[in-house]
Amino acid sequence: MRTLFCLILTFAVPLILAARAEKPTAMEPLGPNAHNDSTANGYKKKWWKEAVVYQIYPRSFKDSNGDGIGDLKGITSQLDYIKGLGVDVIWLSPMYDSPNADNGYDIRDYRKIMTEFGTMADFDELLKGVKQRNMKMILDLVVNHSSDEHAWFVESRKSKDNSYRDYYIWRPAKNGREPNNWVSYFSGPAWKKDPATGEYYLHLFAEKQPDLNWDNPKVRREVYDLMKFWLDKGADGFRMDVIPFISKDQSFPDFPRDYDGNYGRVYASGPKLHDYIQEMNREVLSKYDVMTVGEAAGVTLEKTPLLVDERRNELNMIFQFDVVHIDRSGGRWKPWTLPELKAIYTRFEKGLDVHSWNTVFLSNHDNPRAVSRFGDDSPQSRVPSAKALATMLLTLKGTPFIYQGDELGMTNYPFTQIDEFDDIQVKNAWKAEVSTKQVSIADFIADLRKTSRDHARTPMQWDESPNGGFTTAAKAWLAVNPNYKGINARQALADRNSIYAYFKRMIEFRKRTPALVYGDYKDLDPQHSSIFAYTRTLGADKYLIVLNLSKHPVAYTLPGSLKAGQLALSNLDGKEEGVTVVDLKGWEARIYEL
Ligand code: NOJ
Repeated sequence: MRTLFCLILTFAVPLILAARAEKPTAMEPLGPNAHNDSTANGYKKKWWKEAVVYQIYPRSFKDSNGDGIGDLKGITSQLDYIKGLGVDVIWLSPMYDSPNADNGYDIRDYRKIMTEFGTMADFDELLKGVKQRNMKMILDLVVNHSSDEHAWFVESRKSKDNSYRDYYIWRPAKNGREPNNWVSYFSGPAWKKDPATGEYYLHLFAEKQPDLNWDNPKVRREVYDLMKFWLDKGADGFRMDVIPFISKDQSFPDFPRDYDGNYGRVYASGPKLHDYIQEMNREVLSKYDVMTVGEAAGVTLEKTPLLVDERRNELNMIFQFDVVHIDRSGGRWKPWTLPELKAIYTRFEKGLDVHSWNTVFLSNHDNPRAVSRFGDDSPQSRVPSAKALATMLLTLKGTPFIYQGDELGMTNYPFTQIDEFDDIQVKNAWKAEVSTKQVSIADFIADLRKTSRDHARTPMQWDESPNGGFTTAAKAWLAVNPNYKGINARQALADRNSIYAYFKRMIEFRKRTPALVYGDYKDLDPQHSSIFAYTRTLGADKYLIVLNLSKHPVAYTLPGSLKAGQLALSNLDGKEEGVTVVDLKGWEARIYEL
C-alpha cells in the first residue's frame, strides 16, 4: 500500500502537474526510467540534463546543536526550504571525517561522518528526507588527495618499505632540493620533505593533503570500493574534486620552458587520466543510474569532450572555469567586460556537440558571491541584479548549479583584516606574500575583498535573530555577514517579490520549457557592452532572453528585424510585447516567446 502511494506520488503527481503546465511540450518527471532513449534536438534526454542542482556547504548551512558549526541535522531541518525552491538535486560538499585543514577537502576516513557534522545515522536520515521529497543527492568525491591523517598516509610515511608506501607519491631529493619545480595551489612548493625517510611527498594542495598515487591499482580499487559504499547507500552520484589531476607523469619533469604560469593545465595533463576514468566508469558508474560532474581545473574547452562525450563513457559533465576566472590574472582580481563573458558561452555552444553536456554556474564555495561579482550588491540594485543573474543562470545551456544563499542574494563579506579569514589559501598566501613584504597589507586585503573564497562560506542567513539564525552559539565558526537583518530566508519566504520567489518562478518556468534545456543557444549581440540578448530554440519553440546587465536604463533595438513576442517572464514590471525596441530599466531581465 505504502509502495503504491509512493509510486503515485513519484509518477502520477508530477504528471498531473506537468499536464497543467502551460505548454504541451512540458518535460517528463525526472526519474531513472524517464526518457529511455528519446532525444531532443539531437541530445539524448537524461534526468541530469533537466535537473537544477543546489550546492550545500555543510559547515555554513545550518547548525542544529549550538556549537557554531553547521551539521547534517541542520540540513535535514531545512529540506522543505530547499524543496520549496523547486531544485531536483542537492550537491553536498564533503561531510566525511576530516581534520579540516581545508574544510573537509582533506579526508581522514572516507566511510565516516565528520564528528562536528553528526553521525552516519544523521546522514541516513538526511538522505531519506531528500528521497522522500523526490529529490536526489550527490556527494563530493575527493580522491586526488586524502588527509595526511588518513590511515593510509600514516602508514605510508613510516618507511620506504611500508606496504602503503605506494599509495602516495614519494621521491628522493633532486640536487638537494624538491624533485621538481611544481607549486602548490596553496602557496609554496608542491613537495614536502618528510623527516621519517628524508623523501619528499607530492601535495598539489596543502601539506596536509598528500596526493594519492593512482598508478597503484590498489589505490584505484580502494576508490572504487568507497564509491560503491556511498552509491549502495543511495547517493545519486558525485561531484569529483580536481579529478583531472589524478594521473601524473611519473618522471615529474619541471614546468615546460614556455610555461605560461597556468599550472592547472600542466597538472591536468597526466598520461593516464582517461584510462582511469574509463575504468572507474566500467567498474562503478555504469552499474548505477547516477550523475557525475567533474571539477575540471586545467581542462581546456578543446579537451572537454574527452571527459564528457557520452560515447567515451567517462563523466556526464564538468565545471569549466572560464566564467569564474574571468576576473582573474595570476590569481589576482582584474576587470572584465560583458563581451568577454558572452564569448565564453558562444565558445561552449560551438565547442561541444550533441554528445557532450555542460554545466552553468556563477558561484560555489571557492568563489565570491554571484551578486557581488557579476551583479551589483548596492542597496538599489541588489535585488534586480540577483534576479537578472538568476534569469541568466537558468536559461543558458547546461545543468544549472545554484550555490546556497544565492537564492537570497547573499553578498560578499566586508572583510577589513586578516584575522577575519579562515581559508588556508588566504593564510598561506599571507605568509608567502605579505610576511615577505612582496605585497602590502592594503593591497592583499583589497584583492581578497573581491576574490576570497570565504565570501561564499559565511553562514546562511535564516532570520533576524543573532547570527542570522544560523546557530544559537554566541559565535559562528565564521562571522555571519552583518547585513543578515535585511537579507535572510524568513523575509524572502514572506515576500512574493523576493529573490527566492523569483528563483522559484524561474525554475518552474525552466521545468516546463524544454527549449531552455535542449534548445540551441545563439548570442544576438556579442559586442554590446551591457545587454546580453540570446535565443534558445528547440524546433518551433523559440525564446528570446534579454538581460540588461548594468544599472543604466537602455532602450534596446533588437538586432535584425526581430520583434519581441509574448512576454513569458520578467524580473521587473516591464510589460511591452511585439516591439522592436525594448525599454529596459537597469538590471531588467525579460524572456519572450518568439
Ligand atoms: C577544489 C575544492 O573545490 C576546493 O575547495 C579545495 O580546496 C580543493 N579542490 C582541494 O581539494
